[in-house]
Amino acid sequence: MARPDHPDREENGGGSSAAYSVAGIPVVDLNILANGDADQRKEEIQHLGRACADWGFFMVINHGVPESLQGATMDACKELFSLPTEEKAEYMEAGPMDPIRVGTGFNSAVDGVRYWRNYLKMFAHPELHCPAKPAYLREIAAEYAARTRGLTLELTTAVSESLGLDGSRIAEALNLDKCLQILIGNHYPPAGPDIGAIGLPTHSDHGLFTLLFQNGVNGLQVKHGGEWLLAKPIPGSFFVIVGDQLEIVSNGRYRAVLHRALVDGKQARMSFLSLIGPCLETVVEPIPELAQEASRGAKFGGIKYREYMEHQQSNKLRENAALDIVRVQRGILARQVSMNNSPINV
Ligand code: OGA
Ligand code: NI
Repeated sequence: MARPDHPDREENGGGSSAAYSVAGIPVVDLNILANGDADQRKEEIQHLGRACADWGFFMVINHGVPESLQGATMDACKELFSLPTEEKAEYMEAGPMDPIRVGTGFNSAVDGVRYWRNYLKMFAHPELHCPAKPAYLREIAAEYAARTRGLTLELTTAVSESLGLDGSRIAEALNLDKCLQILIGNHYPPAGPDIGAIGLPTHSDHGLFTLLFQNGVNGLQVKHGGEWLLAKPIPGSFFVIVGDQLEIVSNGRYRAVLHRALVDGKQARMSFLSLIGPCLETVVEPIPELAQEASRGAKFGGIKYREYMEHQQSNKLRENAALDIVRVQRGILARQVSMNNSPINV
C-alpha cells in the first residue's frame, strides 16, 4: 500500500516525508520502520513516539497483512454471529477469563444496561481456542493471529526504541514470547437515535496494544485534547490503540487512549480486533530505567496481568478506572488505599 494521496493528508515536521497524519490522526509507515535507511527510521520512530505520547492512537500502513485476510476474518466472524443460538450456547455461559466467549454488551452480568453489541472473544496465543463452527474459522483465525501478532511485536520493538530503550527491552520485560493474544469480533446492529443505543461506552483497552479494523461503517471515536474525534481509516490500514499495560510499563509516558463505539442508524457496523498483552503470569510494572528518569519515580505499582485483566473485565466499564488500582499517588499505591478504604467493585 503506497501512501495514499488523501485530501486531508497533513505533513508534519516541516514538510518531512516521514511524520504525517490523515484526518488529524497520526499515520505510521511500517515499510519505513522495516526498510528505511537509518535517518528515515529514526524520524519515523520519533513520529511513532509522539503518536503514543500525544494520542495513544494512530494508524499503521504498509503493514503486510493482506486486506483479503482482513476481509475473510470478518466474514467468518459474521457467519458465527448468524448461527442459531444453540450452536453458540456453550460460549455464551463463559466468564471473562474463559478462552472463548460469545456475548452481548460488555459484561452483561454487571452492565445493567445492554450495550448494542454482539461480540466474540477468543484467546489465540499461546494456544488458539476457536469455536467449532463455522469450520473454516480456525484456519483463518490462526493465520490472522500469527500475522497480527508479528506486526504487534514489530511495533513493540519500535516503541521500545522510541522510549530510548533497546528494541527488545519491552518484549523481554513482559515475556512477550508467551504473550496473551485475544481476537475480538464486534457486531453492532443498526439502531436509530430514538432508542439512545451506544455500541461500547468510553473505556481504555487492558492490554499493551490493540489493532483494529472495521467494515465500511465508521463509529469508533477516540478522545484527543478533550474532544471526541471520529476515527476514519485509510482503507486496509489498522488503527493501533495504546492499552493500559503500555501506560504502566512506559511509566505514563505513553497513554492508554479513551475510546468508544457508536452505532449507525442504518447499517450494521463490524470491527475486528487483535489485542496483545503480556503473558498472564507476568508482573507488569514500569521499566526501571524509565521510573528512574521520572521526577517522582515509579507512577505505577506492579500487578500480575491476570489479576489486572480479571479486575477490568469483571467490573462495569468506567473509562480507564481500572488503572487506578496500580496508580501511585503521593507515594502510596492507590490499590492499598482502595482496598483499605473503599470497595473498587461497583
Ligand atoms: C473494543 C473496542 C471499538 C470498535 O472492543 O475494545 O474498543 O470500534 N471496540 O468496535
Ligand atoms: Ni476498546
